[in-house]
Amino acid sequence: MNSSLNELEQAFQAKIDAEQKIEPKDWMPAKYRQNLVRQVSQHGHSEVIGMQPEGNWITRAPSLRRKAVLLAKVQDEAGHGLYLYSATETLGTPRADLIEALQTGKAKYASIFNYPTQTWGDIGAIGWLVDGAAICNQVSLQRTSYGPYARSMIRICKEESFHQRQGYQIMVELAKGTPEQKQMAQDSLNRFYWPALMMFGPHDSKSAHSAQSMKWKIKRETNDDLRQKFIDQTVPQIEFLGLEHPDKELVWNEERGHYDSGEIDWEEFNSVINGNGHCNRQRISHHVAAHEEGLWVREAQHAYNVKMKARRASTAA
Ligand code: 3HC
Repeated sequence: MNSSLNELEQAFQAKIDAEQKIEPKDWMPAKYRQNLVRQVSQHGHSEVIGMQPEGNWITRAPSLRRKAVLLAKVQDEAGHGLYLYSATETLGTPRADLIEALQTGKAKYASIFNYPTQTWGDIGAIGWLVDGAAICNQVSLQRTSYGPYARSMIRICKEESFHQRQGYQIMVELAKGTPEQKQMAQDSLNRFYWPALMMFGPHDSKSAHSAQSMKWKIKRETNDDLRQKFIDQTVPQIEFLGLEHPDKELVWNEERGHYDSGEIDWEEFNSVINGNGHCNRQRISHHVAAHEEGLWVREAQHAYNVKMKARRASTAA
């Protein structure tokens, strides 16, 4: 490697170690850029695809208030996706490439969104557990080394907190309701608890990207550390609901000061992220259809931009 590249890489790592944010115009290793495009765009895909399972229940919400709250949440997720796509574009990857990667299966999104939302309890469990897991992860990402990503996280985390609270409130109402409603909450907890743990990724020892992402401070805490934080915080919440914990091997470890938990079904995880979940095909075909229906908006925007550019050029002349 010639010395100038070596010097550049050393200077880059020194900035990272000194907790300086990397900005779009700064020099960065190609692999840093590539890793960020991968993670940030997939984060954005997760937000956008995550709109589908919840969106299915907007017309079936049990009250006008619940409908309004869910509508606001789903709209928030769209905004989160756009923030994250905009952050990805600062790395030089056009939006169209990101969408193409999602729609062709080249890019991933959080596997949990390939599970169906069968009952209203699922909407509560998603808000409580999925957004709760996302908060664990994203609070940490507010300190990520890439400036635009860190700044997008600060705004997104504020909205995620509302998402988690409204979901938990749904679970409280069901758990304190009729026996049938309590059973609905238990059923949703059972179906969404383990996929929520999968949101933190494979174990650190099996993670393809974690070591490098930690060195470059793209990640500030490891998959397993964040997952442990989430497991620990969820135990008293399940107790308050008066529900049974889905992990029958869960036990407090005084020495560790954390809960020891059962093993995640990694076969299920790999099967779902490789396209074999209940809803993978449905999620992508819905996204393709929505994207095609929105073509006229993009064309109108493009025509307007061309017109404005010509007008600015003629007034400048
Ligand atoms: N679902 C799908 N794919 C997953 C996954 C999951 N739950 N967990 C890991 N993977 C994938 C990774 O993307 C990687 O595949 P790739 O090389 O093709 O990208 C592979 O499994 C190996 O995992 P690694 O741990 O090595 O990958 P990372 O270092 O990227 O860690 C991560 C995975 C923890 C998800 C990390 O990418 C991350 O922190 N991403 C940002 C947070 C995020 O995306 N959260 C999901 C948000 S959902 C959400 O917020 C919606 C909510 O508002 C409703």
